[in-house]
Amino acid sequence: MRILVTGAAGFIGSHLCERLLQDEGVEVIGLDGFVPSSTPVHARKFNIHPLLGHPRFTLLVQNLLGVAWEHLLPHVDAVYHLAGMPGVRSSWGDDFKAYIAHNIEATQRLLEGCRRFPVQKFVYASTSSVYGEQTGQVNEDARTQPLSPYGVSKLTGEQLCSVYAHNDGVPIVILRFFTVYGPRQRPDMAFHRFIQHILQHKPIPIYGDGHQSRDFTYVDDCVAAIAATLHAEGVIGETINIGGKERATVLECISILEQLFGSPVERQFIGKTYGEPRHTWADIRKAGRLLGYAPKTDLTQGLQAEIASILCNPFLRQP
Ligand code: UGA
Repeated sequence: MRILVTGAAGFIGSHLCERLLQDEGVEVIGLDGFVPSSTPVHARKFNIHPLLGHPRFTLLVQNLLGVAWEHLLPHVDAVYHLAGMPGVRSSWGDDFKAYIAHNIEATQRLLEGCRRFPVQKFVYASTSSVYGEQTGQVNEDARTQPLSPYGVSKLTGEQLCSVYAHNDGVPIVILRFFTVYGPRQRPDMAFHRFIQHILQHKPIPIYGDGHQSRDFTYVDDCVAAIAATLHAEGVIGETINIGGKERATVLECISILEQLFGSPVERQFIGKTYGEPRHTWADIRKAGRLLGYAPKTDLTQGLQAEIASILCNPFLRQP
């Protein structure tokens, strides 16, 4: 089986490629355009570097907007579409153009390709940001009302998937990830920023009052769910939440970091951001039913692994 992973050098994409290659019967084509984003290009090259000599892995360095799909898709059985412009807080103003290009246009072109050259599964990486403000645990039938331009771009990507599924039978599966963390987390995301600030003896920047909560999902749990879609029955046409083992507020996470580092850290409240939900909380029963999904990693274990990965990555220990 030959699988195309877009965004292969990204945080989740690189973990997914590794996971898929554990199956002897799988070949992975990793596509990545190394488009400028919050994660420096050298850090993304570092993410994918261990796989470059793997006999069943090929890296294609190409921007999704320029790929000649007729040369690639006829040789592909399944597509995992993880490429995109990430980040809730950076999607405002003129920067939204990049979200239109990389989250909407690129998705539409890939779906056009899959319309002409059918694949067995097309998995779209979406986000909890499509829901917007949530009260309590949210299931996949909840109303979608994004609060950020980023969320709008990802929801539009979902809707494009539905359009091509309806009209052309593209076998889509939509996975909505909830704040993924762990080794290789993007440097704009909370835990990565917090750990870097602690290592540099700077106060931790906290948006709002720190009592906002997230359903934090450890990256290995997340990729286990993504990989499970490959052979799962009854997932085509479904939208599935992928949440974590433990929800917590930002302040609770900082307390865990203090325990792990063994010393108190200074907190700096840097004002409110807009476009973010106050709380996220995934109902993951559908993922359990369809994918056998059961997240295993709690915040203490997951944060420990993220700290270790930052300490041993020469590209990340920088001011
Ligand atoms: C993350 C990703 O960045 C999105 O790409 C993804 O779509 C989303 O998760 C999702 O899964 O739905 P976010 O929840 O904002 O978005 O994740 P973090 O950047 O890790 O932030 C978590 C919390 O920490 C937020 O409440 C944020 O306000 C807070 N935060 C973040 C701080 O207090 N300080 C910081 O320096 C950064």
